[in-house]
Amino acid sequence: MAELGMADPERAALDLLLRGFQVSRMLRLVADLGVADRIAPDGGTTLDELAAACGVHPQPLMRVLRALASFGIFSVAAGGGISHTPRSHLLRTDAPNSLCHAARFWTAPGSWRAWEELDAAMTGGVPHEVAWGQGRFAYLREHPQEARLFDAMMANFPDNRHAAIAAAYDFSGARLIYDIGGGNGAALRHILARFLAPRGLVLDLEDVVRSVQPEGLMGGRITMQAGSVFDGVPAGADIYMMNRVLHDWGDQDCARILHACRTAMAPEALLLLGEQILEPDPAQGRPSSYLIDTQMMAMFGRARERTVDEFRSLLTEAGFALRRVVPTASPISIVEAAPVAVGMQES
Ligand SMILES: C[S@@+](CC[C@H](N)C(=O)[O-])C[C@H]1O[C@@H](n2cnc3c(N)ncnc32)[C@H](O)[C@@H]1O
Repeated sequence: MAELGMADPERAALDLLLRGFQVSRMLRLVADLGVADRIAPDGGTTLDELAAACGVHPQPLMRVLRALASFGIFSVAAGGGISHTPRSHLLRTDAPNSLCHAARFWTAPGSWRAWEELDAAMTGGVPHEVAWGQGRFAYLREHPQEARLFDAMMANFPDNRHAAIAAAYDFSGARLIYDIGGGNGAALRHILARFLAPRGLVLDLEDVVRSVQPEGLMGGRITMQAGSVFDGVPAGADIYMMNRVLHDWGDQDCARILHACRTAMAPEALLLLGEQILEPDPAQGRPSSYLIDTQMMAMFGRARERTVDEFRSLLTEAGFALRRVVPTASPISIVEAAPVAVGMQES
């Protein structure tokens, strides 16, 4: 049998995918060390200077940087000078929508150890619970550093969804927008910067709400309210928005969340779900969509990304009519739904 070598492009591509975790882990290392911030955007630095600034030994750092440079992340010159590439530039904390938080997050202990237990999901278990003995949000509450990293990663997610949602939907008619599970308020900040009339309220868990600094509240236009959506949602908004919230939950919990919104909403209020719609055919969909779907499985078990039909069915069950799906410049779409008047629902 002829020997199969790396001349086979399929073999070479699969080989790199098999070792993808090594790249992710090295990216976390350099992000934790702040390497990208220590290299001037338009200049460079020497290995020794960089290692000293990071407080590490030059040689192991060089080996990591060389490996990343082979993927176009940082440039390592023959003489040892280190400079930026377009990819490494995205790891600077001052890059717009920086990917530094994502680099630190994906292989942070909570997620990393849950993925080790992925097999548990195949027989109905929840990998995160097997790894940590507790649910994801309870874990984050007990690990504040990782929780704030999660909030920062959500606010600067690679999909750039908050800016895209603000640009794609006309919020000008709203006076009050509730962002349920709105994290540190990033989506509302983008929306209220673009639309001057509305005010906003974020309902999220207590530790998340408490961590938001006053300068993030746009001079009082944003209010942070601590609470659980499962205990009810306040009344009074024109728009009830949930971005990447339902994907954290299985169908039964989604039904409870939607019911809480439906109960609070006036007849003319609207519900907006910012979600990455799952394309059932993987040949047509984006890899990031299936990766986030499996991330949900690793973290929450039954939580998942959904197709339009699955959203429609959840909404119908909860007393809403799906009105339209608004695409955005990011992979996120906005599913717009309106409460159906009691007595008008299909039986
Ligand atoms: C995947 S994050 C999405 C954050 C934000 N909407 C965004 O798009 O960046 C889910 C959010 O739901 C919040 N959350 C989890 N359980 C909740 C609950 N019971 N009530 C309200 N918010 C909750 C989390 O703290 C987190 O901020």
